[in-house]
Amino acid sequence: MALFRGLFNFFLDDNKLDEKIGMTERQKRLVQNTWAIARKDEVSAGLAIMIALFKQYPEYQKQFKSFKDVPIDELPKNKRFQAHCVSIISTFGKLIELMYDPELMQASLTNVIEKHKTRGQTQEQFENLKQLLISLFPSLFGKQYTPEAQEAWKKMLDLIFSSINEIYKN
Ligand code: HEM
Repeated sequence: MALFRGLFNFFLDDNKLDEKIGMTERQKRLVQNTWAIARKDEVSAGLAIMIALFKQYPEYQKQFKSFKDVPIDELPKNKRFQAHCVSIISTFGKLIELMYDPELMQASLTNVIEKHKTRGQTQEQFENLKQLLISLFPSLFGKQYTPEAQEAWKKMLDLIFSSINEIYKN
């Protein structure tokens, strides 16, 4: 009976909606667990994202002064580029960790995005990155990218990128 009650409570908690961010506890866990795959090898995961971004939008590479002229085939072994790849993955990881306090998450995002805005990156570039992430997640997360995880990520990305749009409006 106690076991049954325990399982029942777990189920209830798991499906509890966090009204502030519109995600259930289970969806938050799915996002955290899949991002943990990227964090296990931040260089490779970041490389997959940044190389795909530069292949699709070669003009974006020109905005990175530390590796703007490095031929794309040489980028994966360039340490300055690798460092940027790691910083993308860890910044996303930090934002995900801050889900428990949406205002703190928003503030942390504001710091990162305002720098981009001042440097000249556009809202459209962020939107294109969002679409690219959606298309890369199946290969990045593999088997763990179940339809449920996909739904959870849709909410997470909408949350992050709608905040970015707000920052650009102001
Ligand atoms: C949510 C998505 C993104 C995150 C989390 C992110 C994160 C970061 C971080 C942590 C830095 C280093 C700190 C700084 O100088 O701001 C950085 C630098 C930079 N990011 Fe992003 N970024 C994102 C999207 C983009 C997009 C869409 C572009 C468009 C091309 C971009 C272009 C740059 C550039 C040009 C730099 C400066 C690199 C340098 O020092 O030369 N970022 N980004």
